[in-house]
Amino acid sequence: MTTTPIIDGIHLHARLATLAAIGAIDGGGCARLALTDEDKAGRDLVVGWMRELGLAITIDAIGNVFGLRRGRLDGPPVMTGSHIDTVRTGGRFDGNYGVLAGLEVCRALDAAGVVTRHPLCVAFFTNEEGARFQPDMLGSLVHAGGLTLQEAYAATDPDGVRLGDELSRIGYRGPAAPGTVRPRAFVELHIEQGPVLEEAGITIGAVTGVQGISWHEFIVSGVSAHAGTTPMRLRHDAGYVAGATATFVRQITRDMGGAQVGTVGVSELRPNLINVIANRARFTVDLRNTDELLLQQAENHVFAFIDETALSEGVSIEKRRLARFEPVDFDPAMIGRIERLAQARGLSTLRLPSGAGHDAQMMARLCPTGMIFVPSAKGLSHNVAEYTAPADLEAGAAVLLDVLLALAEE
Ligand code: GLV
Ligand code: MN
Ligand code: MN
Repeated sequence: MTTTPIIDGIHLHARLATLAAIGAIDGGGCARLALTDEDKAGRDLVVGWMRELGLAITIDAIGNVFGLRRGRLDGPPVMTGSHIDTVRTGGRFDGNYGVLAGLEVCRALDAAGVVTRHPLCVAFFTNEEGARFQPDMLGSLVHAGGLTLQEAYAATDPDGVRLGDELSRIGYRGPAAPGTVRPRAFVELHIEQGPVLEEAGITIGAVTGVQGISWHEFIVSGVSAHAGTTPMRLRHDAGYVAGATATFVRQITRDMGGAQVGTVGVSELRPNLINVIANRARFTVDLRNTDELLLQQAENHVFAFIDETALSEGVSIEKRRLARFEPVDFDPAMIGRIERLAQARGLSTLRLPSGAGHDAQMMARLCPTGMIFVPSAKGLSHNVAEYTAPADLEAGAAVLLDVLLALAEE
């Protein structure tokens, strides 16, 4: 006999807290950078929960983990999932929420005695954050065939440690070829990480797509000299180029307006001393826009500015592309389905694009894909104060349940 499956919000909340205890940092946040010991401990915990649910585990060669729940038919599963790595100063919901909510859906279906027509799959993908290794969404990108294993293994962190070596070290270089578990559809539940839903007083976001992302690293080489004795006309100041670029990036976002955002998130000077002109600067530029042509315009302006500034300062520049993804549109039928099923539960909905990158944007290369958002308090994320109210977490998981069930019965 089957009953109506119901999400257990208290259980979901408790598990988010248990996972957040691994790599816990002050303020209630998490530091589980990809492929660190903390990431391994988080993975082991979640894989244990998958096994408790009787899911068949597949680990692929890039460390993506898939837990399969059998259906009445064999064949491609309906997949949900996200990531459990975090930035160094992360919250407890980003990514983790989507994965653990997927497990709650399986738990609710078990309790209700429901076996779906198509199998279900809950996945978590390697190095979504891109905070340690670039590009971001690396595991799902490899899964979708957008990056080879060799390229992915060769990615290095700021200390020169190779991703492939770290994956082996933590025991998650699995036997399955990437792309083995090919879904018939993919739905990712995630916190919004921005202010739109909260400001509009809306519970469920039906995500229309993900904006384009451009990440570049610049290394400036200048000449160290005495800060007191060197006339301004004789300086080759690497730090000046980094600082001027940060100001210019802000300026260009103001000038372009619209959806253009820009960030200089890394800025490191050498020797980093008060009275020494920097001979080296390493900085990053993160540019995003929902419109590819506008994103290219922003890139061109910023790159030209850096070249001109370097020339006039007499320093040399090395530029490295870390990530570049065009904007992605999600499946219109999926967007409509998320909206309808949320409304059927009496929940308010809003269509909005995602400002953050997500594994779903890679899965969209493979199958009909969509995302469900819930509000983020004060729009904060990549911050230990990241917070979503328990009622909203439960509402999002309930919509995920409905969407997965509908897709799995098709
Ligand atoms: C990755 O999650 C990003 O949007 O920076
Ligand atoms: Mn995320
Ligand atoms: Mn994130």
